[in-house]
Amino acid sequence: MPPWVAFPSLILLWADAVVSVSYVTGVVGQSVTLPCIFSTAHEISPMCWGRRACPSFSCSNELIMTDGYHVTFEKDKRYRMNGIISRGNLSLTIQNAALSDTGTYCCHIEFKGWFNGYKKNIFLEIKPGEFIFLGPSAWPAPSRNPG
Ligand SMILES: *[C@@H]1O[C@H](CO)[C@@H](O)[C@H](O)[C@H]1NC(C)=O
Repeated sequence: MPPWVAFPSLILLWADAVVSVSYVTGVVGQSVTLPCIFSTAHEISPMCWGRRACPSFSCSNELIMTDGYHVTFEKDKRYRMNGIISRGNLSLTIQNAALSDTGTYCCHIEFKGWFNGYKKNIFLEIKPGEFIFLGPSAWPAPSRNPG
């Protein structure tokens, strides 16, 4: 098997940008992390996560944005960036995932001078959790009719 077959993401060269694509799965009710790691050999740059495939510029339907050091916008508390942003760990964690979180996400780093920055599309699939049997203690107590 040639080594590129085993490489987990596919690099696509578009007319104006480098876009890579990867696939992540998660489970309902748990948190799931969408990886986006970028070498800080480049200057520290603003970036955004969007809930769509990456457009040519910026992100569409932004979930979270940073100035390169700190989060500057967060659509919802469920979206967190727990990595060290200034060291290029731009991974997005979605807490308490729901089936409706399934879809395409975009990690776009907007540094200048190299096409339109770095773009990564991630397809996330959230799967239903295991069925949990709560047992008789979770059932309502039977009503008792004295007498
Ligand atoms: C990046 O940060 C995430 C938390 O958001 C962590 O799980 C992951 O291990 C970090 N990766 C690297 C390469 O530092």
